[in-house]
Amino acid sequence: MSMDYGIMKIEDYYEMYRLWESIPEMNLNAADERERIDLYLCRNPGQSFVCKADGHIIGTIMCGNDGRRAFIYHLAVSEQYRNRGIARKLVRRALDEQKILEIDKCAVFILDENRGGKEFWMKMGFSAVCEAETMAKRI
Ligand SMILES: CC(C)(COP(=O)(O)OP(=O)(O)OC[C@H]1O[C@@H](n2cnc3c(N)ncnc32)[C@H](O)[C@@H]1OP(=O)(O)O)[C@@H](O)C(=O)NCCC(=O)NCCS
Repeated sequence: MSMDYGIMKIEDYYEMYRLWESIPEMNLNAADERERIDLYLCRNPGQSFVCKADGHIIGTIMCGNDGRRAFIYHLAVSEQYRNRGIARKLVRRALDEQKILEIDKCAVFILDENRGGKEFWMKMGFSAVCEAETMAKRI
């Protein structure tokens, strides 16, 4: 089976969305509509990636930065392809790209109950920011 890693394109949106919908840990909302994802990819060109197996999307990572810090969203690997190092490779690609852009710190938001996700990120060298809490407001 051929595994190909490449830059995320908006043309892949509906296939990516189907993958995200199939994964309970993904917290999808209005910000995941096609137009918003398109805007994100346009603002952060070449920084988000997919993995395809036999031409079908089985892994995604969205990454971008605001000029100071990078943020990762929607790291997802189809259940049947897990534990083969696909997510690790997607993370590597995303972080390498940020390094090229001279961004030296990256954060990821993870739901409190997602224990597996947290363990994965710890394996990737991420650690919890104990001295801070995320606050947000709908505007
Ligand atoms: C988390 C997720 C992306 C991992 O994908 P994956 O391709 O199976 O991960 P990898 O094979 O690259 O794993 C890399 C390392 O993390 C470990 N790991 C992966 N998932 C893990 C889990 N759920 N619990 C503990 N460790 C885990 C692997 O054992 C591996 O460790 P090793 O290098 O010491 O062998 C995948 O399980 C997923 O899509 N989960 C649902 C969505 C999600 O939670 N995303 C993260 C929140 S943003």
